[in-house]
Amino acid sequence: MIADLIIHHIKSIYTPNQKAPIKGLNMRNIQVIENGYVAIKDGVILSVGNGLYEHLIGSNTKTLDAENKIMLPAFIDSHTHLVHGGSREDEYGEIIQGIPYLDILKAGGGIHHTVNHTISATFDELYNKAYQSLDLMLKSGVSVVEAKSGYGLELKTEIKQLEVAKKLNAHHPIELYSTYMGAHAIPKRYEQHKDRYINEVISDLTIIKENDLASAVDIFCEAHVFSVEDSRKILTQAKKLGFKIKMHADEIQSLGGTSLAVNLGCSSVDHLMVINDEDIKKLSTSSTIANLLPGTSFYLNKAFAPGRKMIDQGVAVSISTDYNPGSCPTENLLLVMQIAANKMKLLPEEVLTAVTLNAAYHLGISETHGSIEVGKQANVILVNAPNLNYVFYHYGINHVSDVWIKGQQVLKNQEIVRNVR
Ligand code: NIG
Ligand code: FE
Repeated sequence: MIADLIIHHIKSIYTPNQKAPIKGLNMRNIQVIENGYVAIKDGVILSVGNGLYEHLIGSNTKTLDAENKIMLPAFIDSHTHLVHGGSREDEYGEIIQGIPYLDILKAGGGIHHTVNHTISATFDELYNKAYQSLDLMLKSGVSVVEAKSGYGLELKTEIKQLEVAKKLNAHHPIELYSTYMGAHAIPKRYEQHKDRYINEVISDLTIIKENDLASAVDIFCEAHVFSVEDSRKILTQAKKLGFKIKMHADEIQSLGGTSLAVNLGCSSVDHLMVINDEDIKKLSTSSTIANLLPGTSFYLNKAFAPGRKMIDQGVAVSISTDYNPGSCPTENLLLVMQIAANKMKLLPEEVLTAVTLNAAYHLGISETHGSIEVGKQANVILVNAPNLNYVFYHYGINHVSDVWIKGQQVLKNQEIVRNVR
């Protein structure tokens, strides 16, 4: 078979190559191919190795010299609140002075502030702001992004957010997977009538499904927000309708959300900064992925999730930014990976598995994404570093130079290549 593109002279190719989900210490097992090449045909990996590739070259094959850079699977940011209006730098002083996140929310700030701005923003304002965020993500090596709604808390605006994500998916090279998160906070109008809002969210699920606006449903299970019982109610209905389900749980107070997530078969349970030992054990025997968000701990000055302990005890971990305007205002997954390694004491190999194949698994795309293997979609990056450790060691620096998505080059020497899709 003849390739469309061959990227050669790659110093080392690092990729997970086991069946997902990859649990516990298996997350360290990364395949390394020295002095390698990757051949791509029709957006898919045709061949990868370090032998001869001349037989794959035809008259239309392009060849590209990687100039001794290293190659990784493109990263997957599997938890973001991408589409929203406004920003919350006004809260920065409060955050730095340690005013609790939930107190800011209770006082009508926090998520409510962003809800007001998202309701009043036009479709185009939301689109243009999120497009710029996607550009930043692309520059740090990201090819797939999960994007939640949850800043409308009313159907019309939730749909506006999800429609923006749909249009972005059609026009930006990054692939988007949308999650409906109407249960992100209790809207002011229902402050004394939480049950009415829960019923509204449950009936809206059908409309979201019928219009194919999201593939997953998420909920903020937290003290003074949605209880474990509320979560059970909403997620049970979501599952019945055929959505993937997931939860924000054990972020600030431990309520038992992780246990519910495992019992209901959530694809991921996210945050887990205050998870208890029993729930770590429960997670390790399940195929629910622990999606850890260390950028949020860093920004809010909170404890980091016990990622080391989880991996040592056999849990399958993924890592994401949680990009949002309140608790993690950064699109930079590479920085979050560096924080993850240092603060949760994870090895670079474990972090790489976390942001590639394990993230792909809970998005339901691990058969096609998350590793550099024959038959997988050609989503790969070149990184200007001599080895994987260096990417983490020289921190705060973006070492990514080039990105291909479905075999199309979308970032060239840190410059975005436009109009490829
Ligand atoms: O994942 N915790 C709930 N939701 C987001 C923050 C949203 C916001 O503050 O705007 C999170 O941290
Ligand atoms: Fe979040």
